[in-house]
Order: sequence, then structure tokens, then C-alpha cells
Amino acid sequence: MERSFALRGDIFFTPQYDKKTSCPSSWLVVIDGRVEGIYEKLPGRYSGLDKYDYSGRLIIPGLTDLHIHASQYQFRGLWMDEELLDWLNNHTFPQEAMYCDPSYAEKAYRIFVDDMLKSPTTRSCIFATIHKDSSLLLCRQLEESGLISYVGKVSMDRNSPDILIEDTAEAIKSEEEYIKQVRSSFSRVYPIVTPRFIPSCSDRLSMALGELAVKYDIPLQSHLSENPGELDWVSELMPSSSSYADAYDKLGLWGRVRTIMAHCVYSYGREEELLENSNIYIAHCPDSNTNLSSGMMGARYYLERGCNIALATDVAGGASLSMFRAICDAVRISKLRWRHVDQDLKPLDFTSAFYMASKAGGSFFGSAGSFEPGCDADILVLDDSRLPTMLDGLTVAERVERYIYLNPDGSVLHKAVQGEWLF
Ligand code: GUN
Ligand code: FE
Repeated sequence: MERSFALRGDIFFTPQYDKKTSCPSSWLVVIDGRVEGIYEKLPGRYSGLDKYDYSGRLIIPGLTDLHIHASQYQFRGLWMDEELLDWLNNHTFPQEAMYCDPSYAEKAYRIFVDDMLKSPTTRSCIFATIHKDSSLLLCRQLEESGLISYVGKVSMDRNSPDILIEDTAEAIKSEEEYIKQVRSSFSRVYPIVTPRFIPSCSDRLSMALGELAVKYDIPLQSHLSENPGELDWVSELMPSSSSYADAYDKLGLWGRVRTIMAHCVYSYGREEELLENSNIYIAHCPDSNTNLSSGMMGARYYLERGCNIALATDVAGGASLSMFRAICDAVRISKLRWRHVDQDLKPLDFTSAFYMASKAGGSFFGSAGSFEPGCDADILVLDDSRLPTMLDGLTVAERVERYIYLNPDGSVLHKAVQGEWLF
């Protein structure tokens, strides 16, 4: 049977944000790309399956990056001393404009996809640029990689340089063509409607995009309450709205379909709408929030209230596409926030940050990011023996934590998506 096997090793996953499961020296059984179960001894009925013995290695679920800009990967690690709006105008927009040339896009996206393939990420929700043909080239490369992705052609028709803007009618038309082409051409890459943020989209464009998402029943992604300068600008643009979230709601973009809102740093205590609409996923981007001096997000508040909150890199606001790094950064920021801002909100611990990077993000795609029966078998095999220590008797959970903290670049020994081995 294709995509069916039994895999032995030290297994770890987090079925809830406050619950971790460790299965030392156990068998993970995968049938038809889905997790069947975990067993200390392999039951006789599975004896005919292909077997992979990774005794002594760690086995964890593949991770989801819920918000990343593929078109910003070339300038990762550069120009980190400006805040969001200057960073966008001075660097990001001119860089994204280069993707009007499909041959540039082809080469740049190749670098991105090659690195994404090697990383701990199995699924991601991606911003491309306004350019339809270049965005389709990215979709093609991702499809061939075996990774599973939502890719958005970015929509922008105002407050941006002429080189990175579309006429409103053209933006609506090309978005609809893009949706149809992605749907008919790919099986692992899906379209996602992508209004960049309120300052970049006229009311007419925003409203049309909301209608397209509903018409084709596809999800939507954007940015919300990231940086103080952005918040001021949005309230100038939409003076009748009571909050940034309310502005999206007035434009028909609030949670009518499954929706990712990146950042939400300034939503805490203001945008209760986030707590109320179960279609909204918060993408917490700790590295980006630090680099662009955006702020310290109160992630645990949303976790404890049952919101969908997951982790993301937001490259190139974040410098690294490693979700291992995002896990560590989320814990670190939450501790600084607890110490310096609000001692009533406890920091994240490793388990809750791992949960956000695995099962919470995976749930945007259905059931991925966990090893409970029925979940898609997205698997990472890690070799922690290459990080010597005199300590012995570490638990599986401690070894996973240590591996992730000591491997910010995210090296992975083997990787499978829906039971298909990519390497
Ligand atoms: N808000 C609007 N566009 C962007 C972007 O490209 N990156 C980040 N971090 N925030 C944004
Ligand atoms: Fe972003």
C-alpha cells in the first residue's frame, strides 16, 4: 500500500496546548497517509507493512508556518532597523516590485522553495506579490516540492509606489483568474485571497475580495494590529470604525471564510471580535515583532480562551524561515512581556509554543500537526545524537526541547508529508 508504513523511534506531540505526549521507543503506524496509532510493540496485523527503524532518533509532527512572504526571502536578515511603515516603503515594496519579471521570480522562488523543503515546515500560508504570472510560478515550484501550501497573489491598489500597484478593476479581475488557475492546476497548492492590509486596499477592492472568497469558498489572509504607526493610519483611513478589526468587518473581510490575521499585537483588550469569531486564526510572529519593534503579543490570553492562535515566521520581518526559531522566540517574548508589561498573564511554556507551531497551525489545513489517530502523517525525524552532552536519562520531551533550542536553523534528518517521504 502506498504511503503506509510503521516507523520506530522516540515519539513526541502535543494534543493540547497544555498537554504533551511522549512515547519512547514506539511504533508510529501510518496507513494511506494518515496516522493509525502508536504502539509499544507492533501488532501482528501490521507485520506486512514497510518498516523504518529510527531507534534513538526523535519523531515529531511536521510544523506549519501560518504567515510568510516568499517574495521577501531574498532580503532576509537585512534592513532590520526600521519600523514597519518605513521598512515597507524603503525596502519591501521596491524588492517586491522586482517580481514583475517572471525570470527573476523563477530564480528567487527556487531559493525560497529549496530552503523551505529542508526546513521543519511541512505546510505554510504564503504571500507572493501582486504579479499573477510570477505567483503561479511559485505555486508550480511548491507543488513539485511535495509541501502543502496556500499561496496568495497579493492585492494592492493604493498608498504604494506606482511600480507595485494595480488598477482596482484589474486587481479584481486578475485575482479571480488566479483563483481559477490555481484550482485547476495544482493538488497540493491552494489559493488564498490576500488583501495586503487596509492601507494598501481601497474599500472597493476590499469588498470585492471578500465577495470572491465567499463565491469560491476559499480562505483569506491579511495583517491586523501589528504596529502603532499602522494603527494610527488605519483609524485615519476608516474614522467610522471602532477598531482595526471592525474596519475589516465593515469591508466584509471579517471571518466570513477561514481567515488568517497576522500579528494582532495590539488587539489585546481592544478587539474582542478575535475571541468571538471561530473562523479567525491569529498568526503570532515573534521574530518579526521584535525586528520591526512592533511589540510583545500576549499569546497565552488567546490560547486560554480557546482562540485559533498559531505561529509564523513572517519572513522577511522575521529573518529565519525556521519554525524551531519561532517556537523559541515565542517563549522568550512572552517571558519579557510577563516581566515588563503584565504579570497577570503567564508566559508561554515550551509545550504551548510547540502546540501552536504544530497542531494549532495544522488545524488550518484540516487535521495535521499531531499524531492522534486520523491525523495526516506529516513527520519529522531528528537526530539529537549530534549534540553531545554528559547528561543522560533525559526524557523524550526534554530532548525535543533541547534539539529545538540548539537548532535554530532547523535541520531535519527526514521529512514526510501525508505519509510521503520528501527526504
Ligand atoms: N503589513 C503589510 N504588509 C506587510 C508585510 O509585508 N510585512 C509585515 N510584517 N507587515 C505588513
Ligand atoms: Fe506579514
